Amino acid sequence: MKKARLYSGMQPSADSLQIGNYIGALMQWRDLQETYDAFFSVVDLHALTQPNDPAELREKTRRTAAQYIAAGIEPSKSTLYVQSHVPAHAELAWILSTITGFGEAGRMTQFKDKSQRYGSDATSVGLFTYPVLMAADILLYQTDIVPVGDDQKQHVELTRDLAERFNGRYGEAFRVPMPVIQQETARIYDLQNPLAKMSKSAESEAGVLWLLDDPAASAKKIMRAVTDSEGAVRYDRENKPGVSNLLVIYAALTGRQIASIEDEYAGRGYGDFKKGLADVVMAEFEPVRARAMDLLGDPAELDRVLAINAARAAEVADETLAKVYDSVGLLRRA
Ligand code: TYM
Repeated sequence: MKKARLYSGMQPSADSLQIGNYIGALMQWRDLQETYDAFFSVVDLHALTQPNDPAELREKTRRTAAQYIAAGIEPSKSTLYVQSHVPAHAELAWILSTITGFGEAGRMTQFKDKSQRYGSDATSVGLFTYPVLMAADILLYQTDIVPVGDDQKQHVELTRDLAERFNGRYGEAFRVPMPVIQQETARIYDLQNPLAKMSKSAESEAGVLWLLDDPAASAKKIMRAVTDSEGAVRYDRENKPGVSNLLVIYAALTGRQIASIEDEYAGRGYGDFKKGLADVVMAEFEPVRARAMDLLGDPAELDRVLAINAARAAEVADETLAKVYDSVGLLRRA
């Protein structure tokens, strides 16, 4: 039986992924690649919507790919590639932009947040059409499911709308994908501001746990994480967002129930609990970091693997794009 198709990706927007990317995405991807025909991209074209030093962007792209592999994505099993290596992404994005409403794109909350923060002159058209490129990523591969954090849900819904609109107007060209949204407990918050989602582009580094960071630095950040004055290790997202966030990280990395962790630390202080969590995080990250560094030590080999995977991705993508070009009436080159 043919496996169902899965698509997801991450932006190479920092030197390291953060623990929210790891728990919210990579751990899921690693499991799902066993049952799905999975495509995972490093979305470097999307990363261009932020200011970048060109040499650094290249380095971040390799580092992101290396972290996928180090975290257990197998490039012989899943198709792990760099978005810009498959030109069909940018090409389909153009076609899709012609059926996307200006108002519709303007209602995307990530765009609204960012454009409000930067002001309209500093907001690029690329940031505005970002979700259309994301729709192209997903639709090129006739995707069944898109596992993402809930911050990306609206973009996947736009993708569904565009697929249905295109199919209705020009005839069936796309499979309509389903978002698979992580449960609420898989959303990781900033250690210093546990009401804000942890993000690669956070203003301060103090609350972000980096996958590739020095273990001692991560331990220190955990010991300094914001908690509360109650002193009890208890899950209560509303009243104890800091402790709840740490419990979620602990549970996700160990596969344990939150209640069992609460029991273990009952009657003990936050110091003990944080030390326990720091040990868990270090044990989880250390082999990933070592493997990523190893891969980055041989960039030619990494580039070779990415090239093979890009060729595999392009085969699927080009077939969809050819159908789309035909459907909309572009003249075939003789
Ligand atoms: P990006 O690079 O911001 O994040 C990658 C993935 O990590 C999840 N994530 C989190 N999960 C839990 N807690 C957090 N604090 C946290 N921070 C990030 C995100 O939900 C995401 O699943 N637009 C996308 C990239 C993209 C894409 C795609 C995804 C481009 N094309 C096609 C899926 C399909 C983005 O910026 O993700």
